[in-house]
Amino acid sequence: MTLKGASWSGSGIPRFNYMRTLSQPNDLIITCGRGAAPMLASELKQLGYTPRVVEDTAWAVIGSLGDALRLNLWLRSAQRVLMPLHTFRARNADELYKGLVAQPWEDLLRPDGYFSITTGVDMPGIRDPRFAALRTKDAIADRMTKMCGQRPDSGGDRNQTVFHLHWRNDEATICLDTSGEPLSRRGYRIQTGAAPMQEGLAAACILASPWRGESAFVNPMCGSGTLAIEAALIARNRAPGLLRHNFGFMHVKGYREEDWKKLKRDAQAGEYEHCKSAIIATDISPRALGAAKANAERAHVAEDITFKVCDFAETPLPPPPGVIYFNPEYGERLGDPENLEPTYRRIGDFLKQKCTGYFGYVFTANLPLSKRIGLHNKRRIILYNANLEGRLLEFELYTGTRDPGPLGAVEQ
Ligand SMILES: C[S@@+](CC[C@H](N)C(=O)[O-])C[C@H]1O[C@@H](n2cnc3c(N)ncnc32)[C@H](O)[C@@H]1O
Repeated sequence: MTLKGASWSGSGIPRFNYMRTLSQPNDLIITCGRGAAPMLASELKQLGYTPRVVEDTAWAVIGSLGDALRLNLWLRSAQRVLMPLHTFRARNADELYKGLVAQPWEDLLRPDGYFSITTGVDMPGIRDPRFAALRTKDAIADRMTKMCGQRPDSGGDRNQTVFHLHWRNDEATICLDTSGEPLSRRGYRIQTGAAPMQEGLAAACILASPWRGESAFVNPMCGSGTLAIEAALIARNRAPGLLRHNFGFMHVKGYREEDWKKLKRDAQAGEYEHCKSAIIATDISPRALGAAKANAERAHVAEDITFKVCDFAETPLPPPPGVIYFNPEYGERLGDPENLEPTYRRIGDFLKQKCTGYFGYVFTANLPLSKRIGLHNKRRIILYNANLEGRLLEFELYTGTRDPGPLGAVEQ
């Protein structure tokens, strides 16, 4: 990650108080997977914030803890919403410990609670970031023991209070990770197909297109249905965070459930009663389609999606305009690249011959295979599925005059 603009420090919170922090403007840092930053910036702008670039996978906005709750509820392409608590100079692990042990962790943590530490460390002399995490954990635990006579448990689970240490160039910033588990874990995936896409990545792929729920969305080779489900959530204007029952902010001292419930009620009131667009998900594997249906039911969007077991070339296509998304196997984890060549060729033929009037998208991590599609791509966006670099290829499948019509234009 390269440091590009605004710093991580933010204004910081000298003494944490839930009620005060709920409305007090601070800096928030919002992170995303590599490549998803433009889509995340669009989302932040749409929600009324002015994002400032921090790193190629992070934006800063001015916002309170209340804003953090709102962002956790609404953001589709983000991974974490972090709230910087304290920034200080730390040239080595001892200075890190000293800076952290002096902080009033008792304001934020319950002595009988549980916390975990994540890190982003780039410091000469600190070869293993786990060492920085350990010193951070020790400092917090020691302060808690001193002030409360008891310390909370700690470990690797991110299902309660999570702190993120960002430490580079002799400057350490300790943040409250208000998300806890990454936002990609929406909570609807109970069954996975082979090589599923992360939910945040699927959302980023859709948000990279002009589609916002007004026209057909077609997803052959749907696997466990991630793209179709994310599309249905967008088409319904349903906040993705509604599906999840646990966030980091729920474990801070003083948290009031009513604040979250109010945000959820407001979000639900803004949902569309019906999905305006046809959403179609198909897969050749009955097992994958079963998983897609089960996941869509869990996300409460099963009624918005038409499912079919079939070869991708038999996928029913509503009249254009619309978008069609493929996420074929790419040989990294599934299938043999050579055996996949004919599949990629057939995808190209299908797009060319059957999908006129659509925008076509193919997400793949295999560049040589993607060339077999045999169509000129209009855009190529690098996006990561976990640590795997992939590409979202965009094909404009217009024959005559170019008219994106009701698809509209994407703001980037
Ligand atoms: C990489 S997975 C898709 C993962 C999906 N995006 C998700 O999030 O779960 C590729 C899928 O293509 C399906 N598939 C492979 N060949 C197919 C074909 N000829 N027609 C339709 N589906 C096919 C596989 O069954 C598999 O579910």
